[in-house]
Amino acid sequence: MNCTVVDDLPATCATAAPARVASHRCRVTAHRAVNARYRYLRLQAEADLAGSTRPGQFYQLRCPQTSALQPFLLRPMSVYGTGPDAGTVEFLYAVAGTGTQALATLAEGQSMEIVGPLGRGFTLDAQARRVLLVARGVGLATMAPLVRQAAQAGVAIDVLLSARSPADAMADELLRGAPAAVHAVFDSDGSSAVDRVEPLLAELLTAGCDAVYTCGSERLALLLRRLLQPHPQVRAEVALEQRMACGMGVCLSCVRPFERKGHVALQRVCREGPVFPLREMLGGWHG
Ligand SMILES: Cc1cc2nc3c(=O)[nH]c(=O)nc-3n(C[C@H](O)[C@H](O)[C@H](O)COP(=O)(O)OP(=O)(O)OC[C@H]3O[C@@H](n4cnc5c(N)ncnc54)[C@H](O)[C@@H]3O)c2cc1C
Ligand code: FES
Repeated sequence: MNCTVVDDLPATCATAAPARVASHRCRVTAHRAVNARYRYLRLQAEADLAGSTRPGQFYQLRCPQTSALQPFLLRPMSVYGTGPDAGTVEFLYAVAGTGTQALATLAEGQSMEIVGPLGRGFTLDAQARRVLLVARGVGLATMAPLVRQAAQAGVAIDVLLSARSPADAMADELLRGAPAAVHAVFDSDGSSAVDRVEPLLAELLTAGCDAVYTCGSERLALLLRRLLQPHPQVRAEVALEQRMACGMGVCLSCVRPFERKGHVALQRVCREGPVFPLREMLGGWHG
């Protein structure tokens, strides 16, 4: 038995997610570089992770200890994909510091522990016919399961993909074969600048969509929030990254303020999020 229930936390506030969270001992079945910055990791657990994990949720990964690297806390990672086997879960990550450097040393066949699924994911309404996804950098890992869900539901998808350069854009990794109209913008040629992106996003919103989802850039999220003002009927959600310790609502290290009904409301990104209504997001908060 390699599945231990560590948390079936009671709701501590009206919006707390009722997810059943467990620790899973997993085998590494694939682990490779995607490009110079990003790596792909596929794990196999005994439990039905594909059935219990929703787009936008995340897991806490216990990165391995090496002689040079001893990450203490678990590291939060969005689910990049699940299935086709019930126990398969995938991650796409950038090597950043101690934890992800240690993670990158894991070889196929080794095992590691993950805790989850954690947090609240995206909402895709059954009536949605067209959605707009705006992703920057590794935010595309968070968006990939939503692309898949939308494509399977026959929803038309527009994607605005922002990256440092064409080599970092990874449109194929985001879409994974799903049909979508992709608009890629880059820092390297200046096309990702807000004043260049704004008319493109405004045009996509005016053309009509039922929902907008974004991840990976506060700058783009706040631009979208502003451009959505004349479109109150459009569902708008943002997946946020925040420094985390426990990842399950206990330590309060991930709390950030949101604007709710004219008041500032403090929310835990790991528990009430990481997906929030975009219209409630406040800028300039870096924890
Ligand atoms: C909900 C969520 C989903 C995420 N999904 C992905 C993903 O799919 N792919 C990916 O590459 N990265 C993702 N991140 C960011 C990832 O967690 C950090 O890059 C990673 O924790 C860095 O750890 P490190 O030890 O390599 O870096 P260090 O800088 O050495 O980390 C030091 C500490 O800060 C924390 N930390 C550092 N950067 C971040 C960050 N951006 N967000 C949260 N905590 C951070 C670490 O967890 C660690 O506790 C996600 C973060 C969150 C909160
Ligand atoms: S990380 Fe501990 S409450 Fe969110």
